[in-house]
Amino acid sequence: MSIADNLKAIMSKSSLIREMFEKGARLKQQHGPENVYDFSIGNPNLPPPAAFLEGLTKVAAIHDQGVHGYMPNTGYLETRQAVADFVNRDQGVELCPDDIIMTCGAAGGLNVIFRSLLNPGEEVIVPSPYFVEYDFYAANANAVLKKAPAKADFSLSISGIESALNPKTKIVLINSPNNPTGQVYSAESLKRLGNLLEKASREFNKTIYLVSDEPYRRIAYQGVEVPSIFSFYKDSIFTTSFSKDLSIPGERIGYIATNPDLTYRQDVLNAMALSNRTLGFVNAPALMQRVLPLCLNASVDMQAYTRKRDLLCQGLSSCGYEFLPPAGTFYVFAKSPIKDDLAFVEALQEERIIAVPGSAFGCPGFFRLAFCVKDDTITRSIPGFRTACQRVA
Ligand SMILES: Cc1ncc(COP(=O)(O)O)c(C=O)c1O
Repeated sequence: MSIADNLKAIMSKSSLIREMFEKGARLKQQHGPENVYDFSIGNPNLPPPAAFLEGLTKVAAIHDQGVHGYMPNTGYLETRQAVADFVNRDQGVELCPDDIIMTCGAAGGLNVIFRSLLNPGEEVIVPSPYFVEYDFYAANANAVLKKAPAKADFSLSISGIESALNPKTKIVLINSPNNPTGQVYSAESLKRLGNLLEKASREFNKTIYLVSDEPYRRIAYQGVEVPSIFSFYKDSIFTTSFSKDLSIPGERIGYIATNPDLTYRQDVLNAMALSNRTLGFVNAPALMQRVLPLCLNASVDMQAYTRKRDLLCQGLSSCGYEFLPPAGTFYVFAKSPIKDDLAFVEALQEERIIAVPGSAFGCPGFFRLAFCVKDDTITRSIPGFRTACQRVA
């Protein structure tokens, strides 16, 4: 195989989730898709809100000269203005359009941030369990992802992050609401994290950036508030997308928002604009950028996700599974009834249930269920969850 050595390592690491995906596809072929309960992938099943669909129709009908052309790498000014206004209203901050860079989703945003901030060999600390793609994004920047265990309830462990900090640390990366755990980090823990990073930046005589990955910000339950990181630490940047809250992951649209008080603000903004271009994104999709100002306040039907969450949580509880109901996201991260999560995920497959082992998120002994599926899939899967649990007991 004449491919890059560091890609070989990545390809073998990425195999767990891909295996689940392929196994699911095989089972669907064998038993029919309706008889397989596929909880493997966070691909939203709810339709996008009406405001998005109406906006899309309206914008698609405009044929003015240049509407499909190249644009500044950071995105259209009007879109960045609309996004800045939205963030200001939502988070009580004061951003201007220059603080916003439109990206190809949060994944694009993270790669742009990493490419712009990280020198080869520098470290990104992430609380574990974590979204597995972070390993690959760090590798893209020739940097190292360093895991710091979260607390037992998956809240932020400040002491865990403190132990991981060292002179090579450049970024602390958080994700709240969290994939896979569903945890939302409290304002109090973020304040402590901000204080810790201020202290560490002084001690190591360098700027350590807090990067927050927030594609699930608006997928939060029962009045759970997702605090804004900007009030807790000045060297903070967040990236988010509309993949989950508008149910449009295939359209690849998101943005980076930068704290106006950031150290080296203009350098960082210039670097990120350049990285958006040189990583090959060039700019975020034009059509989506023109739709967004028409639907920024819209969101998917959270009542539907609440219902799915409750259905799954009640069903799993009735079978005796241990887990914390998620405060946000559409994932349940449950304890495997046996230590070996890979073996348990196989036991679930015997019941035609596809789950992702916790090992794929750096957390053996657990498994993740993505409940962005039909209600009926959840209801009909519960007997299988019961059988699998009884069989391994
Ligand atoms: C935690 C997290 N970050 C980033 C992403 C990437 O999302 P997107 O690039 O579609 O915004 C995902 C997608 O599932 C995710 O779960």
